[in-house]
This record gives sequence, structure tokens and C-alpha cells, in this order.
Amino acid sequence: MNKMQTIETKRMILMTMPVDFIDKLIVNDDTAYSDYNIVQTDEWLKNEFHEIIVKIREGMTEEKEASGFDAWIFIDKADRTIIGDGGFKGEPDSEGRIDIGYGIVESRRGEGYGFEAVSALIEWGFRQKGVKIITADSNLDNTASQNLLEKIGMKRIKSDETLVYFELKKNQYTGEPYDSIWFRRLTEIDLKLMAQWFNTDFVNEWYKMDDTSYEKVSAKYLPRINGEESTECYIAMHFDKPVGFVQTYFIKDYPDYNKYVQADDKTAGADIFIGEEEYIHKGWGAIILKKFIYEVIFCKENVNSCIMGPEPENTAAIKTYEKIGFKYLRTIRNPEEDSDEYLMELRKTKTKFL
Ligand SMILES: CC(C)(COP(=O)(O)OP(=O)(O)OC[C@H]1O[C@@H](n2cnc3c(N)ncnc32)[C@H](O)[C@@H]1OP(=O)(O)O)[C@@H](O)C(=O)NCCC(=O)NCCS
Repeated sequence: MNKMQTIETKRMILMTMPVDFIDKLIVNDDTAYSDYNIVQTDEWLKNEFHEIIVKIREGMTEEKEASGFDAWIFIDKADRTIIGDGGFKGEPDSEGRIDIGYGIVESRRGEGYGFEAVSALIEWGFRQKGVKIITADSNLDNTASQNLLEKIGMKRIKSDETLVYFELKKNQYTGEPYDSIWFRRLTEIDLKLMAQWFNTDFVNEWYKMDDTSYEKVSAKYLPRINGEESTECYIAMHFDKPVGFVQTYFIKDYPDYNKYVQADDKTAGADIFIGEEEYIHKGWGAIILKKFIYEVIFCKENVNSCIMGPEPENTAAIKTYEKIGFKYLRTIRNPEEDSDEYLMELRKTKTKFL
């Protein structure tokens, strides 16, 4: 299997088309589908798209992974069939413009899949370096598509005998805040920023580090970055801006702590802080944590529940966790810490999405 990029939405996986997948489609080799665990249907890949696929393939080499500025397929998570496709007609031009196109198979239209997929692609587009404007066009008589683009926030800029043209500038894009947050693994390069964040009053008040020097921060987080400790650390990104830190681990991996928590093997722990001042106390905490829980923690099969342990006086944290659905368990005291922990739990079965 070749490499691909994926975006997960509520009901779909959007996936760039890997080279070997396209090659097999061109020669009508149906193992393309099974290779990627996709269920083949008669509806997708009609003849006209076949021609497009040949063109897409011409722009790729064996080594080149799909850049994302090309074709994506939309896979329904529920039945693994392809219910649409879309993407961009190339890399950004000199003005930072990319053009988006999309289609949903006939039997699945009118159920919001188009909006869900196009919103996710637009959000992906604006996260890429150099992208300033996303454009789209629609046939004059295709009101469904025009409504979709307007619902996303695109503005009509002109029309001719056949098409209406739309555009959206990055600085006009509000999107769903939830969609604009994503996570990447913490790396060594981030440690300077982490040290800066630990030095702010608002982080240090509740997420204490006795010594916030770069050396101490590195000594604490490098083993996690290098995989010597099992805790997974991430930077929470808002578009292309790092805004905070989140981490997750199995509580069983920390027996000294688990003496007090008494969690089972399938219980994850999580920690969060927002490091950028302009993002704190504006409701971003709940958005970031919710997305982290659904997209990182609860995606693990061997996780049944998540526990967090704010200090009882940390009202902002407690309210944030309650908003996501966490429930109070009990208060514990780890003698190695300066304060009690107000243990709160969110069980996977109780969540709306899963
Ligand atoms: C905890 C944290 C992630 C919460 O994210 P946030 O987006 O800043 O959360 P907010 O400040 O918007 O607060 C959430 C809620 O608590 C309320 N709140 C905040 N401070 C409060 C206070 N002192 N008293 C009462 N309510 C308070 C807010 O009004 C908001 O409620 P609302 O949504 O009903 O209006 C963030 O504040 C943070 O990073 N803090 C520093 C590190 C930290 O505490 N980490 C958690 C360690 S367990």
C-alpha cells in the first residue's frame, strides 16, 4: 500500500488517492478496493471520472505521494463505501489560490455529506502553507451546490453563461472552531515554546513546573518525545498556530499514581493546558479537549474511559471537563503532590459520537 493522507469527519474518512490505488483503478483491477479496505459499489467511478483519474495519475510519479492538492475520496465510515470524491485542482498559485471541486454519488445526496466533506477539505486547505484563497465554481442550475458553498461562507464573485464563481479568503473564514483544531506530536523543536508557555502565569498557576527552564522542560519531555516513556504528547494547533499542549497515557503505566486512582487497564489519563494568552478563557479548552478525546484517546480500541484530575479550586478546568460530559468520581490525595485531585471520568459508552 502507498502512503495517503486522511481526514476524519463525523461520518466519513476523506483519503487522498494513493498511486497504487489509482493505477489499479485505471486497469479495472478491483483489488484496489480490498487493498484499502474499501467496499466497492457500482455507483462510484463512472466513466467520466475514469478519464479524470487518468489525468490525475499523469501528474504523479511512483515516488510522489498525493500532496492533498489533488484528488480525495470520501469513504463512509459506516459501510466503507466511496460516497463521493473531491479535492483541489493543483497546488496554490502565486497568489495563494486553490480551486476546490467535489461530488457526492446520487443515492447519498441531500444528507449533508457534501457539506461535511467540503467543510473538512476547506479547513485542510487553509491549514496548508501559502493558501490564502479557496475558489469554487458551480453550474448555474446547480442550486444545491451553490447553497452548500454559501453555507460554508463562500462569496459569489461573478457568473457567466454557464457557471457561478465563488471564493473564500482565509481571513474571512470562520469555519467551525471544532474543525480548525488539530493535533501533532510534540517534537524537540517545540520544547522552547513549551518552556515559554510554562513561564506564563496562567499555565503555571495550575500546571506547575517547579523549574521552567528550557533544560528542565527538555529533561521532562524528551523521554516522552523519544518514546522512552509511554505518555503521548501533542501540540494542539489552531490552523497553523500552536496554541496549547495535550497528553495522554494509560494510568496503569504509572503504578505509583494508580495506587490512588485505582483505574483498570483500559483507563486513559489526559492533561491539557492552553499556552497562548489570546486563547485562554475563551472557551477553546472544551473544543480542544473534546476533539482530543474523540480523535485521539477514544480511537484507541483498548481505551474504555478517560480520567482527569484537576485541583478542586481549578474552576475553569472543572467546568470545561463537565461541559464535555466528565462526571465527578472522588477526591484523592497523592502525598507527592501539593494538592488534592478532583477526579473526573468520561466513559466511552456514554459519549454521543461512539
Ligand atoms: C483549563 C483550561 C484548559 C480551560 O480552558 P479555557 O478555554 O481557558 O476555559 P474557560 O476559561 O473558557 O472556562 C470554562 C468555564 O469555566 C468558567 N470559569 C473560568 N474561571 C472561573 C472561575 N474562576 N470561577 C467560576 N467559573 C470560572 C468560565 O466562565 C467557563 O464557563 P462557561 O463556559 O459556562 O462560561 C485552560 O483554562 C487552561 O489551560 N488553564 C491552565 C492549565 C490548566 O488549568 N490545566 C488543567 C489542569 S487539570
